[in-house]
Amino acid sequence: MHIRGDGGQTAADCPKTKDRPMNHFLDIHTTPADDLRGMIDAARKIKEARAGRPKGTLDDDLPLDGRIVALIFEKPSTRTRVSFDVGARQMGGQTMVLSGTDMQLGHGETIGDTARVLSRYVDLIMIRTFDEATLIELADNATVPVINGLTNRTHPCQIMADILTFEEHRGPIAGKKVVWSGDGNNVCASFLHAAGQFGFDLTFTGPETLDPEPLFVQGARAKGVEIKIERDPFRAVDGADLVVTDTWLSMHDSQSAQERRHNQLRPYQVNEHLMKAAGPDALFMHCLPAHRGEEATSAVMDGPQSVIFDEAENRLHAQKAIMRWCLQG
Ligand code: CP
Ligand code: NVA
Repeated sequence: MHIRGDGGQTAADCPKTKDRPMNHFLDIHTTPADDLRGMIDAARKIKEARAGRPKGTLDDDLPLDGRIVALIFEKPSTRTRVSFDVGARQMGGQTMVLSGTDMQLGHGETIGDTARVLSRYVDLIMIRTFDEATLIELADNATVPVINGLTNRTHPCQIMADILTFEEHRGPIAGKKVVWSGDGNNVCASFLHAAGQFGFDLTFTGPETLDPEPLFVQGARAKGVEIKIERDPFRAVDGADLVVTDTWLSMHDSQSAQERRHNQLRPYQVNEHLMKAAGPDALFMHCLPAHRGEEATSAVMDGPQSVIFDEAENRLHAQKAIMRWCLQG
Protein backbone atom coordinates (compact mmCIF):
# COMPACT_ATOMS: atom_id res chain seq x y z
CA MET A 1 0.00 0.00 0.00
CA HIS A 2 1.35 3.39 -0.95
CA ILE A 3 0.85 6.31 1.41
CA ARG A 4 1.43 9.71 -0.12
CA GLY A 5 2.59 12.80 1.65
CA ASP A 6 1.75 13.50 5.26
CA GLY A 7 -1.30 11.50 6.20
CA GLY A 8 -2.70 11.51 2.64
CA GLN A 9 -5.27 8.96 1.57
CA THR A 10 -4.25 5.60 0.21
CA ALA A 11 -5.50 4.31 -3.09
CA ALA A 12 -7.28 1.52 -1.23
CA ASP A 13 -9.10 4.09 0.93
CA CYS A 14 -10.51 5.85 -2.11
CA PRO A 15 -14.30 5.83 -1.85
CA LYS A 16 -16.18 4.16 -4.68
CA THR A 17 -18.29 6.43 -6.80
CA LYS A 18 -21.91 5.58 -7.58
CA ASP A 19 -23.41 5.65 -11.05
CA ARG A 20 -24.88 9.09 -11.24
CA PRO A 21 -27.70 10.40 -13.42
CA MET A 22 -26.14 13.84 -13.89
CA ASN A 23 -22.91 15.49 -14.95
CA HIS A 24 -20.80 15.91 -11.84
CA PHE A 25 -17.25 17.07 -12.64
CA LEU A 26 -15.35 15.11 -10.01
CA ASP A 27 -12.16 14.07 -11.78
CA ILE A 28 -10.57 13.94 -15.21
CA HIS A 29 -10.23 10.14 -15.34
CA THR A 30 -13.88 9.65 -14.41
CA THR A 31 -15.19 12.03 -17.11
CA PRO A 32 -15.60 10.67 -20.67
CA ALA A 33 -12.67 11.67 -22.91
CA ASP A 34 -15.00 13.00 -25.64
CA ASP A 35 -16.72 15.23 -23.11
CA LEU A 36 -13.35 16.56 -21.88
CA ARG A 37 -12.32 17.37 -25.47
CA GLY A 38 -15.70 19.06 -25.98
CA MET A 39 -15.12 21.20 -22.87
CA ILE A 40 -11.66 22.33 -24.02
CA ASP A 41 -12.99 23.24 -27.48
CA ALA A 42 -15.96 25.05 -25.93
CA ALA A 43 -13.66 26.94 -23.53
CA ARG A 44 -11.62 28.19 -26.47
CA LYS A 45 -14.76 29.47 -28.22
CA ILE A 46 -16.10 31.03 -25.01
CA LYS A 47 -12.78 32.87 -24.57
CA GLU A 48 -12.67 34.07 -28.18
CA ALA A 49 -16.31 35.23 -28.10
CA ARG A 50 -15.72 37.80 -25.36
CA ALA A 51 -12.15 38.89 -26.10
CA GLY A 52 -11.60 42.55 -25.20
CA ARG A 53 -14.98 43.05 -23.50
CA PRO A 54 -15.23 44.62 -20.04
CA LYS A 55 -15.10 41.86 -17.44
CA GLY A 56 -18.38 42.83 -15.82
CA THR A 57 -20.46 42.41 -18.98
CA LEU A 58 -22.56 39.35 -19.82
CA ASP A 59 -21.64 36.76 -22.45
CA ASP A 60 -23.81 36.53 -25.58
CA ASP A 61 -24.86 33.07 -24.50
CA LEU A 62 -26.27 32.79 -20.96
CA PRO A 63 -26.52 29.12 -19.92
CA LEU A 64 -26.62 30.09 -16.22
CA ASP A 65 -29.46 32.59 -16.62
CA GLY A 66 -31.75 32.12 -13.62
CA ARG A 67 -29.31 29.71 -11.94
CA ILE A 68 -27.51 30.01 -8.60
CA VAL A 69 -24.07 28.51 -7.93
CA ALA A 70 -22.74 27.74 -4.41
CA LEU A 71 -18.96 27.91 -4.04
CA ILE A 72 -17.81 26.15 -0.85
CA PHE A 73 -14.25 26.61 0.42
CA GLU A 74 -12.79 24.58 3.25
CA LYS A 75 -9.29 25.75 2.22
CA PRO A 76 -7.96 29.14 1.03
CA SER A 77 -8.22 30.15 -2.63
CA THR A 78 -7.67 33.13 -4.90
CA ARG A 79 -7.92 31.80 -8.47
CA THR A 80 -10.62 29.18 -7.96
CA ARG A 81 -12.81 31.49 -5.92
CA VAL A 82 -12.62 34.50 -8.25
CA SER A 83 -12.67 32.63 -11.56
CA PHE A 84 -15.75 30.54 -10.67
CA ASP A 85 -17.54 33.60 -9.33
CA VAL A 86 -16.75 35.80 -12.35
CA GLY A 87 -17.42 32.95 -14.81
CA ALA A 88 -20.83 32.13 -13.38
CA ARG A 89 -21.84 35.80 -13.38
CA GLN A 90 -20.69 36.37 -16.97
CA MET A 91 -22.90 33.42 -18.01
CA GLY A 92 -25.93 35.03 -16.36
CA GLY A 93 -25.83 33.14 -13.05
CA GLN A 94 -25.76 34.28 -9.45
CA THR A 95 -23.22 33.03 -6.93
CA MET A 96 -22.65 32.66 -3.23
CA VAL A 97 -19.27 31.97 -1.69
CA LEU A 98 -19.47 29.86 1.47
CA SER A 99 -16.70 29.16 3.94
CA GLY A 100 -16.77 25.62 5.32
CA THR A 101 -16.12 26.84 8.85
CA ASP A 102 -19.06 29.27 8.76
CA MET A 103 -21.48 26.56 7.63
CA GLN A 104 -23.13 23.95 9.89
CA LEU A 105 -20.97 21.51 7.89
CA GLY A 106 -18.02 22.71 9.93
CA HIS A 107 -19.99 22.15 13.17
CA GLY A 108 -21.19 18.59 12.85
CA GLU A 109 -23.95 18.54 10.22
CA THR A 110 -23.38 15.60 7.89
CA ILE A 111 -22.19 16.09 4.34
CA GLY A 112 -25.20 14.10 3.10
CA ASP A 113 -27.68 16.39 4.84
CA THR A 114 -25.77 19.47 3.64
CA ALA A 115 -25.95 18.16 0.06
CA ARG A 116 -29.70 17.53 0.25
CA VAL A 117 -30.39 20.97 1.73
CA LEU A 118 -28.18 22.91 -0.70
CA SER A 119 -29.79 21.06 -3.62
CA ARG A 120 -33.14 22.66 -2.64
CA TYR A 121 -31.64 26.17 -2.95
CA VAL A 122 -28.99 26.15 -5.67
CA ASP A 123 -28.47 24.68 -9.15
CA LEU A 124 -24.76 23.82 -8.98
CA ILE A 125 -22.22 23.24 -6.18
CA MET A 126 -18.45 23.68 -6.38
CA ILE A 127 -16.44 22.51 -3.36
CA ARG A 128 -12.79 22.79 -2.33
CA THR A 129 -12.18 20.39 0.51
CA PHE A 130 -9.64 18.12 2.22
CA ASP A 131 -10.63 14.45 1.94
CA GLU A 132 -11.87 13.17 -1.38
CA ALA A 133 -14.53 11.26 0.59
CA THR A 134 -16.25 14.59 1.35
CA LEU A 135 -16.53 15.42 -2.35
CA ILE A 136 -17.86 11.95 -3.17
CA GLU A 137 -20.43 12.02 -0.36
CA LEU A 138 -21.59 15.45 -1.45
CA ALA A 139 -22.05 14.25 -5.04
CA ASP A 140 -23.77 11.03 -3.95
CA ASN A 141 -26.35 12.97 -1.97
CA ALA A 142 -26.83 16.11 -4.07
CA THR A 143 -29.55 16.32 -6.69
CA VAL A 144 -27.64 19.06 -8.52
CA PRO A 145 -24.21 18.72 -10.18
CA VAL A 146 -21.06 18.96 -8.03
CA ILE A 147 -17.64 20.24 -9.19
CA ASN A 148 -14.30 19.33 -7.59
CA GLY A 149 -12.47 22.59 -6.84
CA LEU A 150 -9.48 20.69 -5.33
CA THR A 151 -9.10 17.92 -2.78
CA ASN A 152 -5.96 16.59 -1.12
CA ARG A 153 -5.86 14.06 -3.95
CA THR A 154 -6.74 15.85 -7.22
CA HIS A 155 -7.32 19.25 -8.87
CA PRO A 156 -9.10 18.59 -12.18
CA CYS A 157 -10.27 22.17 -12.97
CA GLN A 158 -6.64 23.34 -12.92
CA ILE A 159 -5.54 20.77 -15.45
CA MET A 160 -8.43 21.59 -17.82
CA ALA A 161 -7.10 25.18 -17.82
CA ASP A 162 -3.57 23.87 -18.38
CA ILE A 163 -4.61 21.78 -21.41
CA LEU A 164 -6.38 24.82 -22.88
CA THR A 165 -3.25 26.91 -22.27
CA PHE A 166 -0.88 24.38 -23.81
CA GLU A 167 -3.02 24.00 -26.92
CA GLU A 168 -3.30 27.78 -27.38
CA HIS A 169 0.49 27.99 -27.52
CA ARG A 170 1.51 24.70 -29.13
CA GLY A 171 -1.53 23.04 -30.77
CA PRO A 172 -2.87 19.58 -29.86
CA ILE A 173 -1.35 18.11 -26.69
CA ALA A 174 -1.83 14.52 -27.89
CA GLY A 175 1.57 12.86 -28.39
CA LYS A 176 3.49 15.58 -26.55
CA LYS A 177 5.85 15.09 -23.57
CA VAL A 178 4.98 16.71 -20.23
CA VAL A 179 7.52 16.65 -17.38
CA TRP A 180 6.40 17.08 -13.78
CA SER A 181 9.25 18.09 -11.46
CA GLY A 182 8.86 18.00 -7.67
CA ASP A 183 6.10 16.64 -5.41
CA GLY A 184 3.78 14.06 -6.99
CA ASN A 185 0.81 15.84 -5.40
CA ASN A 186 -2.87 16.51 -6.20
CA VAL A 187 -2.09 18.67 -9.26
CA CYS A 188 0.35 16.03 -10.55
CA ALA A 189 -2.37 13.39 -10.06
CA SER A 190 -4.78 15.28 -12.30
CA PHE A 191 -2.02 15.70 -14.90
CA LEU A 192 -1.60 11.91 -14.89
CA HIS A 193 -5.34 11.48 -15.37
CA ALA A 194 -5.21 13.96 -18.25
CA ALA A 195 -2.30 12.10 -19.88
CA GLY A 196 -4.51 9.02 -20.21
CA GLN A 197 -7.56 10.95 -21.39
CA PHE A 198 -5.87 13.39 -23.81
CA GLY A 199 -3.14 10.99 -25.00
CA PHE A 200 0.13 12.65 -23.98
CA ASP A 201 3.22 11.18 -22.30
CA LEU A 202 4.32 12.27 -18.83
CA THR A 203 7.64 11.92 -17.03
CA PHE A 204 7.66 12.42 -13.27
CA THR A 205 10.92 13.53 -11.70
CA GLY A 206 11.19 13.84 -7.92
CA PRO A 207 12.28 11.87 -4.84
CA GLU A 208 10.87 8.37 -4.46
CA THR A 209 9.03 9.23 -1.22
CA LEU A 210 7.01 11.85 -3.12
CA ASP A 211 6.11 9.72 -6.15
CA PRO A 212 2.56 10.03 -7.46
CA GLU A 213 0.10 7.31 -6.51
CA PRO A 214 0.90 4.06 -8.35
CA LEU A 215 -2.82 3.64 -9.07
CA PHE A 216 -2.81 6.84 -11.13
CA VAL A 217 0.45 5.92 -12.89
CA GLN A 218 -0.95 2.48 -13.80
CA GLY A 219 -4.29 3.99 -14.86
CA ALA A 220 -2.60 6.31 -17.36
CA ARG A 221 -0.33 3.53 -18.66
CA ALA A 222 -3.38 1.30 -19.17
CA LYS A 223 -4.68 3.93 -21.62
CA GLY A 224 -1.56 3.46 -23.76
CA VAL A 225 0.49 6.55 -22.91
CA GLU A 226 4.08 6.48 -21.68
CA ILE A 227 4.48 7.38 -18.00
CA LYS A 228 8.09 7.41 -16.81
CA ILE A 229 9.62 7.91 -13.39
CA GLU A 230 13.12 9.45 -13.70
CA ARG A 231 15.08 10.51 -10.63
CA ASP A 232 17.51 12.75 -12.56
CA PRO A 233 15.67 16.00 -13.42
CA PHE A 234 18.08 16.88 -16.24
CA ARG A 235 17.54 13.54 -17.96
CA ALA A 236 13.80 13.84 -17.34
CA VAL A 237 13.39 17.15 -19.20
CA ASP A 238 15.20 15.99 -22.35
CA GLY A 239 12.75 16.52 -25.22
CA ALA A 240 10.05 18.07 -23.00
CA ASP A 241 7.27 20.12 -24.59
CA LEU A 242 6.13 21.30 -21.17
CA VAL A 243 7.78 21.47 -17.73
CA VAL A 244 5.43 21.78 -14.75
CA THR A 245 5.97 22.16 -11.03
CA ASP A 246 3.99 23.11 -7.93
CA THR A 247 4.58 24.17 -4.36
CA TRP A 248 6.75 21.84 -2.26
CA LEU A 249 4.19 21.78 0.55
CA SER A 250 0.47 21.64 -0.22
CA MET A 251 -2.28 23.15 1.91
CA HIS A 252 -3.07 19.80 3.53
CA ASP A 253 0.56 18.96 4.29
CA SER A 254 1.90 19.41 7.80
CA GLN A 255 4.17 22.44 8.24
CA SER A 256 6.44 20.20 10.31
CA ALA A 257 7.45 18.48 7.06
CA GLN A 258 8.76 21.75 5.58
CA GLU A 259 12.48 21.37 6.21
CA ARG A 260 12.57 17.73 5.10
CA ARG A 261 10.54 18.52 1.97
CA HIS A 262 12.79 21.43 1.05
CA ASN A 263 15.91 19.29 1.38
CA GLN A 264 14.37 16.51 -0.68
CA LEU A 265 12.99 18.76 -3.41
CA ARG A 266 15.76 21.32 -3.87
CA PRO A 267 17.38 19.30 -6.70
CA TYR A 268 14.04 19.44 -8.54
CA GLN A 269 13.75 23.24 -8.57
CA VAL A 270 12.80 24.54 -12.03
CA ASN A 271 15.51 27.10 -12.78
CA GLU A 272 17.23 28.44 -15.88
CA HIS A 273 19.62 25.46 -16.01
CA LEU A 274 16.76 22.97 -16.06
CA MET A 275 14.80 24.97 -18.66
CA LYS A 276 17.94 25.19 -20.79
CA ALA A 277 18.20 21.40 -20.65
CA ALA A 278 14.54 21.17 -21.67
CA GLY A 279 15.22 23.32 -24.72
CA PRO A 280 13.88 26.66 -25.99
CA ASP A 281 10.53 25.30 -27.21
CA ALA A 282 9.47 23.85 -23.85
CA LEU A 283 6.77 25.79 -22.04
CA PHE A 284 6.78 26.30 -18.26
CA MET A 285 3.63 26.02 -16.12
CA HIS A 286 2.76 26.40 -12.43
CA CYS A 287 -0.81 26.40 -11.12
CA LEU A 288 0.07 29.15 -8.57
CA PRO A 289 0.33 30.24 -5.83
CA ALA A 290 4.12 29.86 -6.10
CA HIS A 291 6.94 30.22 -3.62
CA ARG A 292 9.37 32.12 -5.81
CA GLY A 293 12.94 30.93 -5.36
CA GLU A 294 11.80 27.53 -4.04
CA GLU A 295 10.10 25.22 -6.55
CA ALA A 296 10.75 27.70 -9.40
CA THR A 297 12.93 30.76 -9.80
CA SER A 298 11.61 34.17 -10.83
CA ALA A 299 13.87 34.00 -13.90
CA VAL A 300 11.80 31.04 -15.13
CA MET A 301 8.42 32.25 -13.88
CA ASP A 302 8.84 35.63 -15.59
CA GLY A 303 10.89 34.27 -18.50
CA PRO A 304 9.92 33.74 -22.14
CA GLN A 305 8.90 30.09 -21.72
CA SER A 306 6.49 30.76 -18.87
CA VAL A 307 2.72 30.77 -19.48
CA ILE A 308 1.69 30.90 -15.81
CA PHE A 309 -0.62 33.91 -16.10
CA ASP A 310 -2.31 32.49 -19.20
CA GLU A 311 -2.96 29.39 -17.08
CA ALA A 312 -4.50 31.54 -14.36
CA GLU A 313 -6.71 33.39 -16.86
CA ASN A 314 -7.76 30.14 -18.48
CA ARG A 315 -9.22 28.87 -15.21
CA LEU A 316 -12.06 31.28 -15.98
CA HIS A 317 -12.72 30.07 -19.53
CA ALA A 318 -12.22 26.35 -18.79
CA GLN A 319 -14.54 26.45 -15.78
CA LYS A 320 -17.24 28.21 -17.77
CA ALA A 321 -17.16 25.24 -20.15
CA ILE A 322 -17.22 22.84 -17.16
CA MET A 323 -20.24 24.58 -15.57
CA ARG A 324 -22.05 24.56 -18.91
CA TRP A 325 -21.36 20.82 -19.31
CA CYS A 326 -22.60 20.11 -15.78
CA LEU A 327 -25.89 21.85 -16.44
CA GLN A 328 -26.37 20.08 -19.78
CA GLY A 329 -26.39 16.67 -18.07
N1 CP B 1 -4.38 27.23 -8.65
C1 CP B 1 -5.32 27.39 -7.72
O1 CP B 1 -6.21 26.56 -7.54
O2 CP B 1 -5.23 28.56 -7.04
P1 CP B 1 -6.08 29.00 -5.76
O3 CP B 1 -5.62 28.13 -4.61
O4 CP B 1 -5.75 30.44 -5.57
O5 CP B 1 -7.53 28.78 -6.05
N1 NVA C 1 -0.83 21.46 -4.46
C1 NVA C 1 -1.39 22.72 -4.02
C2 NVA C 1 -2.21 23.32 -5.11
C3 NVA C 1 -2.79 24.67 -4.79
C4 NVA C 1 -3.64 25.22 -5.88
C5 NVA C 1 -2.19 22.53 -2.75
O1 NVA C 1 -2.98 21.59 -2.68
O2 NVA C 1 -2.02 23.32 -1.83
